[in-house]
Amino acid sequence: MGYSKACVLGALFLFLSYASAATLQIYNPPSIYPHSGYFTLTASGQNVPVTAFDGYAYAHFSFGNGPIDLKITSIQQTSIASFVTSPQKYNLNHTATVFGNTLSFTLDEPKYLIVRLHDVGELIIAADPLETNVPPSSGPGIFNVVTQYGADASGARVTTLAFTQALQAAEAGAGGTVYVPPGVYQVGNLILPSRTALYLAPGSVLRFTGNRADYTNDWTKTSQGLDGTEWIRTDYGSSDVKIYGRGTIDALGDYAQKTGKFIAHAVVPIGTTRFTFDGPVVRDGGSWTIMPTRSSYVTIDHAKVLNRMDLGENDAIDVQESQHVVVRNSIGISLDDSFSTKTWQANEGITVKYPGSPQALYNVTFSNNLAWTHCYGFKVGQGVWEDQTQVRFEGGTVYDAAVGLGVHHKWGSATASDIQFTDTAVEHLHGANDGHQTWLAVFVQAGTAGIVGPIAGVHIWDVHVRNRGTTAALASGVQGAEVSDVALRNVVFDDLGGRAATTLGEMGITETAFSSGVVVKG
Ligand SMILES: *[C@@H]1O[C@H](CO)[C@@H](O)[C@H](O)[C@H]1NC(C)=O
Ligand SMILES: *[C@@H]1O[C@H](CO)[C@@H](O)[C@H](O)[C@H]1NC(C)=O
Repeated sequence: MGYSKACVLGALFLFLSYASAATLQIYNPPSIYPHSGYFTLTASGQNVPVTAFDGYAYAHFSFGNGPIDLKITSIQQTSIASFVTSPQKYNLNHTATVFGNTLSFTLDEPKYLIVRLHDVGELIIAADPLETNVPPSSGPGIFNVVTQYGADASGARVTTLAFTQALQAAEAGAGGTVYVPPGVYQVGNLILPSRTALYLAPGSVLRFTGNRADYTNDWTKTSQGLDGTEWIRTDYGSSDVKIYGRGTIDALGDYAQKTGKFIAHAVVPIGTTRFTFDGPVVRDGGSWTIMPTRSSYVTIDHAKVLNRMDLGENDAIDVQESQHVVVRNSIGISLDDSFSTKTWQANEGITVKYPGSPQALYNVTFSNNLAWTHCYGFKVGQGVWEDQTQVRFEGGTVYDAAVGLGVHHKWGSATASDIQFTDTAVEHLHGANDGHQTWLAVFVQAGTAGIVGPIAGVHIWDVHVRNRGTTAALASGVQGAEVSDVALRNVVFDDLGGRAATTLGEMGITETAFSSGVVVKG
């Protein structure tokens, strides 16, 4: 007779409990953000809200304790002609299946993905690890901006004072956590003192207003022709400051650039030590977005910088004049560079109010990050006014860019040295930046006539170039500022049939003026 009904039910039950073994934390974005009209997403059968943004959509949730099944439905189509899942190194393509207008695959562990459907565009899937360190919303050491300080969570009015008072109380208590419950908060400058944490609960949004009157005027950006502010920053001389949670920081860049005429650097650890950022979405930067500056022992983890692709100078994460910095497990989407490092000369441009003197940058590691930009994916430069050394880009993926990997020494006379790109993939290139569309651009350019500096020691190994671009790769200096010691090993090109290039010619490195020691190692 075969199986009894009970056996079949038992088997079904086992199957269901296996499929739902994972723990999911799904967040409801506030109603100010429209749902995507192109995608729906489920995770192990549960609906995950998808937010529409500028030319792409995104979904943010957390999971752990087992794999999940993701199903992406293309609402406007009856079938999915083709798709790409990035980072391609995860090989999700191999397990993905299409049924009608739904694409399905399994995710074993939390990671950030870009899924592109033909004729539709990109869906960003930001799957975070489960939140393990959620603070209580009240109690000792907790400073709740709504229940204790009366913040307006409706987004209707500027509510900076409640935040300032909560931060001051946390500081007076020799440390504490400023707790931001779900809701929308228009806030002015927030200055985080030593030993304070800003916790952004899921469903909370800090919004920039774009109105000059709500902020201190910290800088003028001549290239943008706009004034701006360090919107959320650390106190100068502070230590042990943290920003974390699963909320959103919205710099309102599009509105601010186009109408408000006043813009923000969104999150600026400045003159601080032992700073941690872990988890929030930072969206719509109107200028550089997350910027560790003149700081040491900084960790940026699980940052989701989701900027527009039609707004200039909106770099995702720029590390400036800092030391012992780690930027990891993050995604940077921006028209301008995704991930870069910079050093400045004193009292120039945006630096006029910086505390102290210019500093060298060293021991900065970018690990396991995903870049999508119209400019450079991973870059040192353009400013090298003080030395930059020991900069590591490892385990990264360039989903799409004009230039994949770069050292662009354009401003200043200091040295960029000991730079490594390892275990990195350049998946696709498009457009051009300053005439370049290439997987690699290591070059010196005299941005200021007569002021140039060298690049010494760039090591590139275990790099997978799926698309090399259409213009020459560069390892070139200028008179008086050479590029030296560029070592390349195991750089694999898809257009060489998936093998490592053995000559500079095969790598397309044909611009090598004023360089020495540019070698392919076996
Ligand atoms: C992934 O598979 C789909 C369907 O076969 C295909 O259209 C797409 O080109 C593949 N992408 C990559 C990067 O292999
Ligand atoms: C480099 O920075 C990391 C991260 O802050 C730190 O753990 C490490 O000790 C630093 N290395 C050196 C040699 O200072």
